[in-house]
Amino acid sequence: MIKRIRPCFVLRGEVAPPGDKSISHRAILLNGIARGEATISNFSPGADFLSTVSCLRAFGVKIDFPSSGVVAVQGVGKEGLREADDVLDAGNSATTMRLLTGLLAAQPLLSIITGDPSLRSRPMGRLIHPLRLMGANIWGKGEDSLAPLAIKGGRLHGITYSLPIPSAQIKSAILFAALFAEGKTVIEELLPSRDHTERLIQAMGAELERKDCLISLSPLTTDLNPVDLHIPGDISSAAYWLVAGAIHPNASIKLRDTGINPTRTGIIDVMLQMGARLKLENERWEGGEPIADLSIESSQLHGVQIDGELIPRLIDEVPVIAVAACAAEGTTIIRGAAELRVKETDRIGNLVNELLKLGASIEELPDGMVIHGGKKLQGSECSSHWDHRLAMALGVAGLITEGETVIQDAEAVEFSYPAFWQDMERLSIG
Ligand code: S3P
Repeated sequence: MIKRIRPCFVLRGEVAPPGDKSISHRAILLNGIARGEATISNFSPGADFLSTVSCLRAFGVKIDFPSSGVVAVQGVGKEGLREADDVLDAGNSATTMRLLTGLLAAQPLLSIITGDPSLRSRPMGRLIHPLRLMGANIWGKGEDSLAPLAIKGGRLHGITYSLPIPSAQIKSAILFAALFAEGKTVIEELLPSRDHTERLIQAMGAELERKDCLISLSPLTTDLNPVDLHIPGDISSAAYWLVAGAIHPNASIKLRDTGINPTRTGIIDVMLQMGARLKLENERWEGGEPIADLSIESSQLHGVQIDGELIPRLIDEVPVIAVAACAAEGTTIIRGAAELRVKETDRIGNLVNELLKLGASIEELPDGMVIHGGKKLQGSECSSHWDHRLAMALGVAGLITEGETVIQDAEAVEFSYPAFWQDMERLSIG
């Protein structure tokens, strides 16, 4: 699909961002192995979440959609998964593949899991390595570095492991395996990454402790308790409107019920540092996570430096932050973000090339980029490379270009935010 965007005169209204994708994956996986029924509302409508649903169903977990935005899962208990009849397909979703692999490493089943060409090119050695230290039998293509993965589940033992890269997917995979291992598992995180798994595992009754950068988890002695959850709005999806509202000259947007877990709010910190007129209101709790309503108005932004512990707290938001930086006065430098090269696409190389097509003054670094802001962007033809976050970031850029921006493969938004283009049309006036 090709999307054509022309800057609108006014950008105004309310958005309820879709349910958080990271929390949705964890909610269904953990409830799937709990004992009893759980109802999860406001789950992520993206194709990535549906990949997790279809994989879990293949293991005999009963999952229904009784009404719009509601999923009911009948947990089979900690020993209840049955062997899948066929190869599992995680689609475009690394969270599905990595979290599931952690879970399967400890189940007495043979599982083979694959994904689309993007997922099959993403690093899996970082997942296989710690799980093998726990005693897992896992193999992957390319000398155990890539999917498809073959997992012959069996008995595992707890480990003490220092995460070499701040990755919530790897951390969660180890924690999922550790639920079934013999003895305690201790994970050390040098830079904190999103902690939804830890929160949910604790809420479901497992013995998990956290102190400074250490997480320790004891194996399950009884089944996890199912939990009903209303999933908060995804701050990674809200991020597009935070930037759009700040850089558009005539904007006022309210984002309802958005997750503000501190491991995810790097985007808020950065926007405030850049001078955004951003407010948090009505802060409260939902499903064990802090949430708030966010409001954003047209702002005069200025360049900032982004690195260190901020990076894991905004890793998925870098493409749209780069768009904010194009509209800001002065220079923005993003460093320490080499992980972006191994996301759904190379989000440094592709983003820089696409923003160059729109006339941005941007330079690629091995681990980030330098953006000289304040240069008017020009509408042009560009591509999402089938990457949802690039599609949406380029869409936001299109709201401030001179002339029309044409985005190829714009339907990539379906992986996390299928209604993104409709929401953009609804907010755009004139
Ligand atoms: C995610 C973790 C991050 C993030 C991804 C979702 C998760 O990936 O980029 O979109 O739900 O755990 P890494 O764990 O590879 O950093």
